[in-house]
Amino acid sequence: MESFVDRKLATDEQESFKIRLITTEEEMQRFAIKPMAKEGWRPGLKDAELFLACDPTAAFVGELNGKPIATVRISKYGDSFAFIGAYLVDKAYRGKGYGLKIFNAAVSSVKPTSNIGLYALLHLEKMYERSGFRSHFHAARYDFHLPTTIACFPEILEKISVEVKAIEDVELENIFRYDTHVFGFERSAFLSRLLRAEGTLGYVAVNNDGLTVAIAERLLKALFEKLSHEEKAVPLVCMDASTKQGMDLGEELQGKKVFDLVYMVTKGLPNTCLEKQFGVTIVDLG
Ligand SMILES: CC(C)(COP(=O)(O)OP(=O)(O)OC[C@H]1O[C@@H](n2cnc3c(N)ncnc32)[C@H](O)[C@@H]1OP(=O)(O)O)[C@@H](O)C(=O)NCCC(=O)NCCS
Repeated sequence: MESFVDRKLATDEQESFKIRLITTEEEMQRFAIKPMAKEGWRPGLKDAELFLACDPTAAFVGELNGKPIATVRISKYGDSFAFIGAYLVDKAYRGKGYGLKIFNAAVSSVKPTSNIGLYALLHLEKMYERSGFRSHFHAARYDFHLPTTIACFPEILEKISVEVKAIEDVELENIFRYDTHVFGFERSAFLSRLLRAEGTLGYVAVNNDGLTVAIAERLLKALFEKLSHEEKAVPLVCMDASTKQGMDLGEELQGKKVFDLVYMVTKGLPNTCLEKQFGVTIVDLG
């Protein structure tokens, strides 16, 4: 008679969970972006390309008997910092250990000395604590209704003497330098694709030492007004407020909070300029 152990062994033999890198845009779209959209995370139209531009050896897929059921990304920023995102398991296969396996494989793929960060959905904070992550500050996604938000911008903004230029009129090198100063790590390959992607609008405040909240508002105002004049109506604008001052701005502009996040790292805050950060390019990239 077949024993429980025999049955278990037979099952284990049949089940092969293999983890490998995602290396093409087509696979990134199918294995990571599509499930993210299904989860309601609203990935951007160019995220497959941008994920690869940020770090071409960061995304993993977990295949169960050849069927893709899990993903995770770990972007490496130099040798000392890495950022986790797109951590997702197919609904039908959750709670069976596959998530933790692929997560640990991603963590093992970076140097043991690396500091690792992530934006956790608030309800998963305790889970990540068990993997050695510690919380530092809150963040959130906001949806803005354009007319409501535009009406919120205070008159005083007009008096701030800062020149706001379209991104096409600014040397990309200058933006890269500013981004490295604020973000803490060089990422020009990613930024050049993000900023000049087809259908992208961007504004830059020039000749200033730093972005105060007022200047961040001024930039958003330029962007939102431009969007409100687009031929095709833009019903909603989404911003991932990455810090406390970003969230304050989201509240001031009457954004609707979609979900709460918490910024967690394994070895303390990286060397970034948090006081100048309001929003994040893509939550999964840090
Ligand atoms: C979060 C998610 C990826 C976990 O995958 P999963 O396959 O369901 O998780 P597992 O079955 O491997 O979990 C096994 C155990 O490890 C824990 N675990 C999973 N991932 C972990 C991690 N990164 N660190 C520490 N513990 C973890 C689980 O809580 C569970 O603990 P328990 O046995 O005490 O309940 C999955 O639930 C999912 O896709 N959720 C929706 C998307 C999402 O919220 N992603 C995270 C965004 S921040």
